[in-house]
Amino acid sequence: MNTTAEPSASLSFRTSTTEAALYSSSVVSFSSALCSVSGLMSHSKTVLPSPLPSESDLGFRILFMNNPQSMWVFDLKTLFFLEVNAAAVEHYGYSRDEFLRMRLADIRPQEDVPRLLEEIARVSAGIQHSGDWQHLLKDGRSIDVESVSHNIVFAGREAQLVVVRDITRQKDAERALKQAERKYRLIFEEAVVGMFQSTPEGRYTTVNPALAKMLGYDSPQELLTTITDISRQIYVDPHSREELKSLAKENRVAINFECQAYRKDGSKMWLSANVRAVTNDGVIVGYEGMNEDITQRKLLEDQLRQAQKMEAVGQLAGGVAHDFNNELCVITGYSDLFQMDLPPGNRPHKYAVEIAKAGRRAAALTRQLLAFSRKQVIQPVVLDLNAATAELEKMLRRLLGEHIEITFKRSSGLGQVKMDPGQVEQVLMNLAVNSRDAMPHGGKLCIETANVELDETYARQNAFVTPGSYVMLSVSDTGCGMDKNTQRHIFEPFFTTKAQGKGTGLGLSTVYGIAKQYRVHHRLQRSGKRNDLHSLPATAERDRQASRTSTGS
Ligand SMILES: Nc1ncnc2c1ncn2[C@@H]1O[C@H](COP(=O)(O)OP(=O)(O)OP(=O)(O)O)[C@@H](O)[C@H]1O
Ligand SMILES: [Mg+2]
Repeated sequence: MNTTAEPSASLSFRTSTTEAALYSSSVVSFSSALCSVSGLMSHSKTVLPSPLPSESDLGFRILFMNNPQSMWVFDLKTLFFLEVNAAAVEHYGYSRDEFLRMRLADIRPQEDVPRLLEEIARVSAGIQHSGDWQHLLKDGRSIDVESVSHNIVFAGREAQLVVVRDITRQKDAERALKQAERKYRLIFEEAVVGMFQSTPEGRYTTVNPALAKMLGYDSPQELLTTITDISRQIYVDPHSREELKSLAKENRVAINFECQAYRKDGSKMWLSANVRAVTNDGVIVGYEGMNEDITQRKLLEDQLRQAQKMEAVGQLAGGVAHDFNNELCVITGYSDLFQMDLPPGNRPHKYAVEIAKAGRRAAALTRQLLAFSRKQVIQPVVLDLNAATAELEKMLRRLLGEHIEITFKRSSGLGQVKMDPGQVEQVLMNLAVNSRDAMPHGGKLCIETANVELDETYARQNAFVTPGSYVMLSVSDTGCGMDKNTQRHIFEPFFTTKAQGKGTGLGLSTVYGIAKQYRVHHRLQRSGKRNDLHSLPATAERDRQASRTSTGS
């Protein structure tokens, strides 16, 4: 603070009537200046500098000294305060004497001084609305002020009369409001769930970026302009919105309403909506709420339901197969004994042979059911899937026939897996035979091995998968592929699309059972007409001596 003493034009107010009469013209001009200044600060009017009224001016004393607004006069050249009123003394905490030893810059924060000097330099005749500033009080606090200044001549000096209004509260309120607005805007803008407001007729009035992104639009603006009828353009079933609206009308809110919606590209997704009816005098004027993408959850729920179903079927099939197998042992055993007692070549002997054959075929079937229900006795060993597939190559070529081209893509440095070699053969055979049947006029079969990483994203999309390193065995063909309905049932025992006597429907359920036995992740992929069936990636878990496998393309 500058405390250099500067001679100030100290005012003494005398009330001599003669002197008052002498300065009456000055009183009028000063009073009018004050009126324009305090009249309303925002009015900017150019007037000529007014001479300061006399020291004895009663009007000045009343208007200046007793004005409830802080006021002062400062020297335009030196910036020293020349006079301050009682309100300024009280508000700022400096005594009048202290004020008169200070310059204007002393009540400004340091960083404001250059702007202050610029403003002073720009000052020309007339009233300047000098805008919003920050002032420092004696106790160090800073306040927000709005000031209006008026050029005057004070004791022969060019000076400015300043009226100051403390707007700290107003500014604080504005700041708080802005902050609150920003906070709520941020919640809206940055929310991970889609938020919207819509009209009863079905137009969005507000949408946040998350909703636009969820529905595949580039921006909220694009969503707002594209969608003119939510019922038809967003909801797969147009009645969904009506249902949602009537729920919101009845209960004021609709909670966790699940339905299917279209993305911009026409693909379908599942969403959960929480919606509130907005009313005005009891009349619904709109809706607002949140939409959450639950497609992934629905997918996992589906997978879980399927797994539970397979578990139940597996238990049933396993139980029946086990008991049935015992009965078959009795049938084949007795028919073998029967054959021994009959002379070979005669008719009853031939019948007994056929009974034994049928019994063995039936036993093979029950073995498959036992594999599905994971009740098969297995002897897992650590093996290399590249070597295992090489051993089977010859047999596969013979099995598939010349019209099918088989290619092997064996990845080097392949991790080992712990499996029963007989089951690896069973899986490959079942898949290869299916491919053959899907390509009656020829095609290509590809058997591939690779080390793959199944990441968090993959694990999120596929139930029961732990992210990590896996060994993949993939079998794909260029056959007819499967429709959605077939895909839904392929792992169920006895599900077949083949003609009677051609297929038992146990091939893929066996693969499924084996995969589950080794905690292998099995995935079926479909790309256009091409049907890729990938199975059995497995990785040796050294510590637990168990293996995890997965299928992937
Ligand atoms: N590679 C494939 N291409 C097209 N469809 C397939 C393929 N693999 C399986 N399918 C379909 O899945 C169904 C079930 O296959 P699965 O192997 O379980 O039984 P199946 O082949 O019909 O009979 P099984 O294997 O017991 O003789 C098949 O009937 C077929 O419709
Ligand atoms: Mg089959």
